[in-house]
Formats: sequence, C-alpha cells, structure tokens
Amino acid sequence: MKLHTIRNMYTVLHWRTQRVAEKVSCTNKQRFSSQVASGDISRFIVENTEVVGDDTLTPEIKLRLFTPNCRFWHAKPELWPFPEPYWAIYWPGGQALARYLLNNPGVAEGKKVLDLGSGCGASAIAANLCGAAHVVANDIDNVAAMATIINCELNGIGPVECLTDNMIGSQPKHYDLILLGDMFYDEVLADGLHRWLDSCINTHGTTVLIGDPGRAQFEEHGIKRLLRPMAEFELPESVQRENHGLTRSTVWRYHPKL
Ligand SMILES: C[S@@+](CC[C@H](N)C(=O)[O-])C[C@H]1O[C@@H](n2cnc3c(N)ncnc32)[C@H](O)[C@@H]1O
Repeated sequence: MKLHTIRNMYTVLHWRTQRVAEKVSCTNKQRFSSQVASGDISRFIVENTEVVGDDTLTPEIKLRLFTPNCRFWHAKPELWPFPEPYWAIYWPGGQALARYLLNNPGVAEGKKVLDLGSGCGASAIAANLCGAAHVVANDIDNVAAMATIINCELNGIGPVECLTDNMIGSQPKHYDLILLGDMFYDEVLADGLHRWLDSCINTHGTTVLIGDPGRAQFEEHGIKRLLRPMAEFELPESVQRENHGLTRSTVWRYHPKL
C-alpha cells in the first residue's frame, strides 16, 4: 500500500496532501531496510519517535510512535527511507484488542499466541503481560519487528519472537490464539487472510480475535457475518481526532461454519 492510501484511509499521518511520486519504490525500500544493520534501524526509530502511552486505550503499555513533535510527522513522505511506517501508529483495532486482553487475562494466559500484522507490537506485548506461554509478533516490515523489540524493552518484558515472513497462505502452524488488529484495510489482503484463518481453525482449532473500529473495508467484507462481538470500547478523544469520524473500536471473535 502507498503512503497516500494510508493517508486517505486513516488520515492519521499529517503528511502532505500531494500524491506521492516515490522515486524509491516500496519494494526497493523493503530491500533497503533488510540491508540496514539492526543497530542503525534501532537508532533511527529512537531518534524519530516519542514514547507514548497515556492517550490510548492501554495507558499501561508504553510505545515508541510518531507524534507531532517528530520530524517525519511533517516531512515529505518520500524522505522516509523504509517501507510505510504503520508500526509508528497504534491503530484503534490494535488498541481494542490489547485492552480486551488486559481486561481478560485468561484469554491469552498459557496460550501460544500469534499477533499477525503486529505493527508496533502492542497486542503481542499485552498477550505477554497476560502470561501467554509463547508470543510471536509477525509483520512483513522488518522495521516493525525492530520497533516491537524496542517496545518490549520499554515495557520491561523480554523480546517476543518476531517473524517477518508472509505467513498468509502458508501451512498453518499451531497457535491457540491469533490476534488481528486493523488488518482488514485492503480487500485482497482480507480475502487471503480469511481463507488462511479458515485453514488455521480447521487444522488447529485456533481462536481468532479481530480488532476493528468499523472501517468500510471490514464492514463490507464477507467475514463480518461470521463474527461475534466480544467487547466494544470508546476511543480516547485524541484517537478519535486522529481517526476522523471513528469513535469506537470492537473486538470480534471469528466463528466460521467449517
Ligand atoms: C494497520 S497496521 C496494524 C498494526 C497493529 N496490528 C495495530 O493494530 O496497531 C497493519 C500492519 O500489517 C502489516 N502487514 C501487512 N500485510 C501483512 C502480511 N501479509 N503479513 C504480516 N503483516 C502484514 C503492516 O506492515 C502493518 O504493520
């Protein structure tokens, strides 16, 4: 997905309104980020983010994110050297999921948990704080993996296992619980995810929880009629402001008819 698409869908990053004529394609940026030493990526994240926590649904979890005080909040998107920085935002779907886990620690306690599309890693961190037996944070962006490691440290927990391969469509491994925060933002991704979740549930009886603030792409997807609401949260005012028009975020459990 291009930066301008993120901006149109979420209007969270206050980056310039002109369409991004990226001289460096996303794929090249992905390749570039995999060549940069992890220490350099780590330093880059620390230098270009701020520790945030209080104005989210989970004030007990601290995260390094973009804020208006950060250079890239205002800078031209093409200056950003890595793939789109989804991990620098704590998305409303992930916030609801993490809140739900922390309110109901038994859901993750003792479980093998996969946070797919983990971004900043907040849902994985919440699962770890609840006493999960093993937590895997999976994101195809290796900068997101580094951000997750930094955020684990910030919250005083050991690093969760971070995987950066694309698991969607792969042979399902055994997870008791799969977490998906704000992952239904693209139709092709959502369709592939839907099929793969069915095979995970079929093979391993995995529980699947989805956090989403009611985005159109999610509301209109076929998976929606197979979901049961588990909890709904009113988003903090600042999160509402950044996500124009979204006021609540819901956690759903997927109950397919397989
Ligand atoms: C909207 S963000 C949500 C991040 C986080 N779950 C949250 O709620 O804060 C979507 C994330 O999914 C990741 N992503 C996209 N396609 C993916 C895939 N096939 N496998 C794993 N992660 C993916 C992106 O890199 C991005 O970090």
